[in-house]
Amino acid sequence: MTRTAILGMGHYVPSKVVTNDDLAKMFDTSDEWIQQRTGIKERRYIEKSGIGASDLALHATKMACENAGVDVSEIDAIIFATLSPDHNFPGSGCFLGDKLGLGGVPALDVRNQCSGFLYGLQIADAWIRCGMYKRVLLVGAEVHSTALDFSDEGRDVTVIFGDGAACAILGPTDDEDRGIIDVEVHADGSGAKDLWLEAPASAYEPRLTHEMIDNKSVYPQMNGRHVFRWATAKMPEVSLSVLERNGVTVEDLDLVVPHQANKRINEFVSQKMSIPPEKVVHNIQKYGNTTAASIPLALSEAIQEGRAKKGDLVLMPAFGSGFTWGAALVRL
Ligand code: UT7
Repeated sequence: MTRTAILGMGHYVPSKVVTNDDLAKMFDTSDEWIQQRTGIKERRYIEKSGIGASDLALHATKMACENAGVDVSEIDAIIFATLSPDHNFPGSGCFLGDKLGLGGVPALDVRNQCSGFLYGLQIADAWIRCGMYKRVLLVGAEVHSTALDFSDEGRDVTVIFGDGAACAILGPTDDEDRGIIDVEVHADGSGAKDLWLEAPASAYEPRLTHEMIDNKSVYPQMNGRHVFRWATAKMPEVSLSVLERNGVTVEDLDLVVPHQANKRINEFVSQKMSIPPEKVVHNIQKYGNTTAASIPLALSEAIQEGRAKKGDLVLMPAFGSGFTWGAALVRL
């Protein structure tokens, strides 16, 4: 039976490091508060205006192709997960395809925020197993820093997010001991406005007004405590569902690579599932929350550092805006 394997991964973050102390110079916050509540020490921002999610993804793609031993020209489909597309339309996948010289190759944008990589993984897996495509580029990339409220009012959201990109090259394998075992995803729109970016919006005419800018509906808004409660309930629930369906126990797992939204959320989830802390990958301290990029960024780094190895059984849970959530079980 054909399975989908991760052939190689890559990641890229912009060079501009923004520490908690840097943010504390702009609005009322502190390194102590941010580290205590989120685990974040610093994050990366794009160096200058004009750099979009597809630009970050371009760097990550080159690294992933190299690691996969795949030439860019072999990519026959692109899935681009992002909540911060370069422009309203077309999708960032089209911009990336053009930058890669992949004219004619289909490009699908996935708009599922922190769970975007998992949604994309499920689609790529189905495409590859049915024989439709052989080399799928799955990207998670975000530029948050151009839409953050750097004032006291926006501090709860602004301290969390960072820019970055990561991706996987996926392809078929006949090796039964390797590949994507299962991906389960969910959505519940009753929480849509608990973490959202209201404007510009096609629901309003005009889509963007001076008033929207003044009342800050052009910045993400979050009901943090509510999102926290949902995340700590849904991430263990969906993880256990995937493990049980596949006859896998927590002891069988080599590594857990959760979405990096808040270190406290991931510690809570690990405790609830009795996952030993040494099996859980955290890199939020360096990059903050990079939404769709966060899982592939953490996995790509773990592979680069030798912490994740071929043959490892890896669980990847996520929760985010939508609400959307899910978990993937993969043998590297
Ligand atoms: O990836 C997408 C999914 N997103 C998430 O999963 C995020 C989930 N939520 C969270 O991670 C947390 O709710 C936050 C980190 C956003 C906030 O942490 P919290 O422990 O829930 O804090 P809070 O919102 O309950 O606020 C506690 C206090 C408040 O002050 P008072 O009312 O107690 O005086 C806030 O005004 O902390 C204050 N506060 C801050 N203080 C310093 C909020 N943000 C900040 C800040 N710096 N940046």
